[in-house]
Amino acid sequence: MNMASVGILFLFFIIIRAQSEGKAFVEVQCKTGNVGQYGQQSMLDCVVTTAEEVKEPKILVVAWKKKGSEDDSDKTLLVFHKGNTTGQPAYRFAESSWNDRNMNISLLITNTTMVNSGDYTCSVMTDSGDDITKTSLRVTAKYNKPTIRSIPENITGREDVTLSCSSVGGYPKGQLRWFDEHNQDWTASSKMEAELTNDGLFKLSSKLSLLKNSIFSKYTCIVFNSSGGKEDEVTLEIPDTATSKGQGEVKGLDQTSKIVAPLVVIGSLIVGLLLALLIYRRRSQRDHREVPTFESNAEQGAHVEMYKEREDGTALSLPLSGDCSCHMDITTY
Ligand SMILES: *[C@@H]1O[C@H](CO)[C@@H](O)[C@H](O)[C@H]1NC(C)=O
Ligand SMILES: *[C@@H]1O[C@H](CO)[C@@H](O)[C@H](O)[C@H]1NC(C)=O
Repeated sequence: MNMASVGILFLFFIIIRAQSEGKAFVEVQCKTGNVGQYGQQSMLDCVVTTAEEVKEPKILVVAWKKKGSEDDSDKTLLVFHKGNTTGQPAYRFAESSWNDRNMNISLLITNTTMVNSGDYTCSVMTDSGDDITKTSLRVTAKYNKPTIRSIPENITGREDVTLSCSSVGGYPKGQLRWFDEHNQDWTASSKMEAELTNDGLFKLSSKLSLLKNSIFSKYTCIVFNSSGGKEDEVTLEIPDTATSKGQGEVKGLDQTSKIVAPLVVIGSLIVGLLLALLIYRRRSQRDHREVPTFESNAEQGAHVEMYKEREDGTALSLPLSGDCSCHMDITTY
């Protein structure tokens, strides 16, 4: 069937339809909100309904057309006429062994692509009347598992890094989001672009910049579809040596200070005691000067032992010799 005869047939339809307006013996009823999935089969679900009084209706003509988007010319997809079914290879009746007594005239699109989305018309002629109805198909495509690339490729922790995540093959426009190992959302720090590719699908790309001193050990890039449903994800593990060293140092410092603090306290106690002893000794030396005989005594090597009793029972024994070699024993009882 060539274009001209299809056109004449169509004109014929319209004339007959105009004559039978108001009778509605025959009606084509289509399901609304047909959604097709990219790469799979889609169906435009339509049935012919007839009035009660119509007994055993017989279909004479079915014509499925798609409304052209740019040139505005309709494209014939599937036609049943004079007992023959013709049309484009990717389209057929959804009913596998459809015949002119079958009122289910649903159109099956065998391999759905983006060009299949849009408005369709279905015209039917029966021996009891005819009808023409519009229906539409919306096509969605699931985004592929994203991939992550880092620039530079080797993350050393000594230089800033840009992570680049991309996911292709989705429709409509979705979103890429970034999370670290604590599930903190870093999307606000990223920049996403959506590009329409030749097959009518979107390619999403997002870049996340990492400063060399604040790199986490894991970054997950998740692709969400246009209605916010999670579709797929990918995780990049950063080598330990490259992860946020700054944070590690702070932690180390923390632990060190836990050990150092008591040491400082003990140290200052010891220093305090030493100072106390020194003052004690100075005083006793002053005392000695007032008694010169005692001093000469000390110079001769006489040992003076001094004990200082403390509340906790610690005693310091400081043997003092005249030449001040300053030995010190700390004895704990
Ligand atoms: C028409 O046929 C198709 C394929 O068998 C089926 O999936 C669909 O539900 C039918 N539609 C109606 C309205 O019965
Ligand atoms: C988005 O994903 C959700 C959950 O997986 C799904 O129910 C919904 O149909 C999807 N929407 C689109 C437009 O693909």
